[in-house]
Amino acid sequence: MKPIIAPSILAADFAYLARDLEMLNRSEAEWVHIDIMDGVFVPNISFGFPVLKSVAKISKKPLDVHLMIVQPEKFINEVKALGAHIMNVHFEACPHLHRVVQQIREAGMQPAVTINPATPVAMLKDIIQDVHMVLVMSVNPGFGGQKFIEHSFDKVRELRELIDSTGSKALIEVDGGVNLETGARLVAAGADALVAGSAVFAAPDPEGIIHALHNL
Ligand code: DX5
Ligand code: ZN
Repeated sequence: MKPIIAPSILAADFAYLARDLEMLNRSEAEWVHIDIMDGVFVPNISFGFPVLKSVAKISKKPLDVHLMIVQPEKFINEVKALGAHIMNVHFEACPHLHRVVQQIREAGMQPAVTINPATPVAMLKDIIQDVHMVLVMSVNPGFGGQKFIEHSFDKVRELRELIDSTGSKALIEVDGGVNLETGARLVAAGADALVAGSAVFAAPDPEGIIHALHNL
């Protein structure tokens, strides 16, 4: 199965965002990955809801929104209204994760749970049946362009086993340091979807890299 490719616009040129989104519209990318940071949950601030709204106007691809914020449940209806299709919340940011997942689904979005590098896959055992996707962070969230953490391959394999053994339909997405080399190994480990920021937007031919990632 070909992996789903979700380029992260965090690495795009925000002065030319429409141009970069039109490139993604033409490309083989299935989703557009949107990284929203609050400077509290992660030590950086990226952009917020007005940008999401503008992206939704131009993008023809479903929006995979990754909220690196505290209390993401406060914004479920707003994120839906702004045009998100998938809403990723962090396990570490949600003490009442089961409720948040149900609320995201009730709002009409696909719920995804993200785990940081230090969060074990086993923590997902009691939520895996309820989520559309698990997003495995293969870097510590907050910045693009970081080095891939090798242990993430083991986490993807372990998550694949958990999903297959429970009959869950959850997809596995991986985010951080994904390039052609790590991407190929992630697909072999059982990943369904790959987020790629700098590998796409720093490349001379972003559409070509998306094509190559899609055909790993
Ligand atoms: C990191 C973000 C990522 C980031 C990935 O906190 O969640 O989506 O944009 O960037 P690369 O692909 O450059 O590691
Ligand atoms: Zn992300």
